Amino acid sequence: MLRRLPRPYDPNLLAGRNPADDAAVYRLVDDLAIIQTVDFFAPVVDDAYDYGRIAAANSLSDVYAMGGHPVTAMNIVAFPMDSLDLDYLSEILRGGADAAAEAGVTVVGGHTVDDEEPKYGMAVTGTVRPDAFVRADGARPGDRLILTKPIGTGVISTALKAQAASGAHVANAVRWMTTLNRAASVAMLAARTHASSDVTGFGLLGHLHPMLHASGVAAAIHLSALPLLPGALWYAKKGLVPGGTRHNYEAVTEFLDWSVDWGDQWLELLSDPQTSGGLLLSIAPESVHAFRQAATRKMLAVEIGEVTEGVPGRIRILP
Ligand code: CO
Ligand code: CO
Repeated sequence: MLRRLPRPYDPNLLAGRNPADDAAVYRLVDDLAIIQTVDFFAPVVDDAYDYGRIAAANSLSDVYAMGGHPVTAMNIVAFPMDSLDLDYLSEILRGGADAAAEAGVTVVGGHTVDDEEPKYGMAVTGTVRPDAFVRADGARPGDRLILTKPIGTGVISTALKAQAASGAHVANAVRWMTTLNRAASVAMLAARTHASSDVTGFGLLGHLHPMLHASGVAAAIHLSALPLLPGALWYAKKGLVPGGTRHNYEAVTEFLDWSVDWGDQWLELLSDPQTSGGLLLSIAPESVHAFRQAATRKMLAVEIGEVTEGVPGRIRILP
């Protein structure tokens, strides 16, 4: 649909035209660009405060994915003013404010509309040097693919909605979803990462494929290396899969070469829509050590596969 819109031509718009870009980067002066992104969605967990933190962490993530430094944010709120207690809204906003404070971001305003279902998120503005941000299109053959959070928030929140999720599984998923991608972004820059994107609504394959396609390369990923949230495989096997998963895998299935058959739930997990997912990074093999050195306890640094030569965008699925 975006293709039908007039394409802005402005030499200062450095990123944001390509569908693989996580955020827009706009050069203001020679050595300074702003980076802008917006995201909001309906509740994924029961607790209003956690929901606020998750939505804010998710909104900040696109800035971190490009190596930017978030500075200010504005709240975007939809709320059923007549049917839901306003205390619920104030808890959402408190969660968002706390996540922003952790990121060193100032919340400078916002806008609310009356709506049947609550929705919350932020429009975030950051800064980045015009020559120092990381795009999604720089992956090179031989690079290692690194993931910084486990997969499975979609199936866990679907299990939660079906009242089939264990409290421990939900608490663990919430811990990951509220974790900022800041540490991962710092490590990414330290390792001179070739390509980056955060794993969100399109699922792992839905973010990996455009990265590979835009970079003109293929990849192989190893299912046994995939970090999964505890419970994710179990809920997927029970069919507790979000509605969006099907669209996600239908969009990528023609680009996949399977050399393993571990059951449909693996395709579903690879396509599981993530909320506030980790960074997916393409890093030169000689820089992986630097990345691990810079990694903190607040992130994973799991190698899930490698970039190869081949038909752009193709993905081999190995055991
Ligand atoms: Co993104
Ligand atoms: Co986004």
